[in-house]
Amino acid sequence: MATRVLGISSSPRHDGNSDLLLRSALDGVAAAGGHVEYMHLDDLTIGHCRACDACWKTGRCRWEDDDYPQLYRRLVDVDRLIFATPVHFLAVSSAAKIAIDRCQCLWARTYILKQSIPSTLPGGRLGMVISTGGSRNTRMFDCVRLTMQYFFDALQMKHASSLFVNCVDDRGAIRNHPTALAEAYRLGGLLVTTDCAPCSPLEVELYGTEKITR
Ligand SMILES: Cc1cc2nc3c(=O)[nH]c(=O)nc-3n(C[C@H](O)[C@H](O)[C@H](O)COP(=O)(O)O)c2cc1C
Repeated sequence: MATRVLGISSSPRHDGNSDLLLRSALDGVAAAGGHVEYMHLDDLTIGHCRACDACWKTGRCRWEDDDYPQLYRRLVDVDRLIFATPVHFLAVSSAAKIAIDRCQCLWARTYILKQSIPSTLPGGRLGMVISTGGSRNTRMFDCVRLTMQYFFDALQMKHASSLFVNCVDDRGAIRNHPTALAEAYRLGGLLVTTDCAPCSPLEVELYGTEKITR
């Protein structure tokens, strides 16, 4: 059975820089034989976490009056996740933050109830982050890195890789970047062909045309 890979786009811009990188990564997934699923958070209505703590007993969010249940189901069902976010005020986008906070029920499932989220693959569940920012600030991705690491932990996913690209601001400016889309494609394919995540995530940072791999 093909590896199911869910791509989540969280920019308010459709066809924005992070979204285009995500689509390129998903093309890489498909070329490597993975089964691609795509969600744009803008197409869903998701309210904020009300911190009622009901999920501490059930591992599920008790509020089912919006589209969060379908996001929950997908997050639990897939083996691979690629999460794309622009940097907004040195953090993930607001849509990303709202969706991540609603996953407090998965945090409860993992850390309070200690229920495992089963994986159909021997290598287990893996996650990848894509993020873009407009400025040259070298610490711009710190917050994204930390938030996503904690999010993947709650999802019982190993953080396999990250692609961070700075100095892209206008909608679609990423199309003019010499290597970013190809890098996304490569990392997307790797997410399908990798059986287990490295001890620390493979991180590719593109600062202008300079590439730093950690
Ligand atoms: C509300 C808002 C806040 C932003 N904050 C930052 C920031 O803190 N640092 C930065 O480098 N770029 C910032 N940007 C620029 C975006 O990160 C940049 O344009 C990015 O490529 C947008 O990706 P997208 O096209 O996927 O939305 C901000 C843009 C917006 C709209």
